[in-house]
Amino acid sequence: MTTIEAPTTLHVRPLSGAVGAELRGVDLKQSLADDTVTAIRQALLRYKVIFFPGQHLTADEHVAFGAQFGEVTPAHPVLPGIEGNAKVFEIDYGKSAELYAAYGDVARRKRETNGLSWHTDVTFVERPPLGSILNAVVIPEAGGDTSWSNQAAAYAALSPTLQGFLETLTAVHDGADQFGALLEAFGEGVWENESFRSLDPVEHPVVRTHPETGEKVLFVNPGFTSHIKDLHPSESEALLRYLYDHSTKPEFTVRYHWTAGDLGFWDNRATQHSVVGDFQGDRVIQRITLRGDKPV
Ligand SMILES: [Fe+2]
Repeated sequence: MTTIEAPTTLHVRPLSGAVGAELRGVDLKQSLADDTVTAIRQALLRYKVIFFPGQHLTADEHVAFGAQFGEVTPAHPVLPGIEGNAKVFEIDYGKSAELYAAYGDVARRKRETNGLSWHTDVTFVERPPLGSILNAVVIPEAGGDTSWSNQAAAYAALSPTLQGFLETLTAVHDGADQFGALLEAFGEGVWENESFRSLDPVEHPVVRTHPETGEKVLFVNPGFTSHIKDLHPSESEALLRYLYDHSTKPEFTVRYHWTAGDLGFWDNRATQHSVVGDFQGDRVIQRITLRGDKPV
């Protein structure tokens, strides 16, 4: 257990060797002292995903917490926010199955959109979120954990030769496969105050430099990266498959078991995450995202 000195004493317990820590000793329903915000931000940059057990925040308190760390974006580029708060995106696994049943290709989209495969949130826009903050509302008795991977550690473990090659590459990210049919059904989406009627693919470097830590980070994910544009399709597919396998090895990951009321905050610039699809019954979480930079 290490302690970060701040007006509120934060107790920090790392949850694995590579990524993740639990923070206790702070009440997130209160507005935080500047030093506490700084300490939490430092913990986020160091551990990449941090958890605050037992906070039980309302939707408004959730947004107020996030606003101390950046600009809270709309809930999602395509999907609406909850009633009464357009910035809060609710994922109710029972309801989203119904939603997707109404709009086609049920089995695959349900699985992917529910976050049950590895992904980084919303990388299919020019400026993907800096971070996501998840409020665990209803959690099944067993299962439904979330895993995160440290994409800086994964990059650092590659050979210098492969690192150098990857740095020359650009990837295409495309949200149409997961959200195109829903966008058509809703008519338009909104992100960063701009409305749009189609999801056009965007390009991001395969290796980005973290704007705050300076770390090099592998920035491709199987949720939204369609291909690497500089390679033949078969080369792109093989290389991406290798990178996905490599970057989600157990030594780069942590798995967190939720309890209702927990808050999780991850650096979306340096991680992937995936929900473990082993649960039965209700699982409802609410998520907000913080505005990010264009990856470079
Ligand atoms: Fe996600």
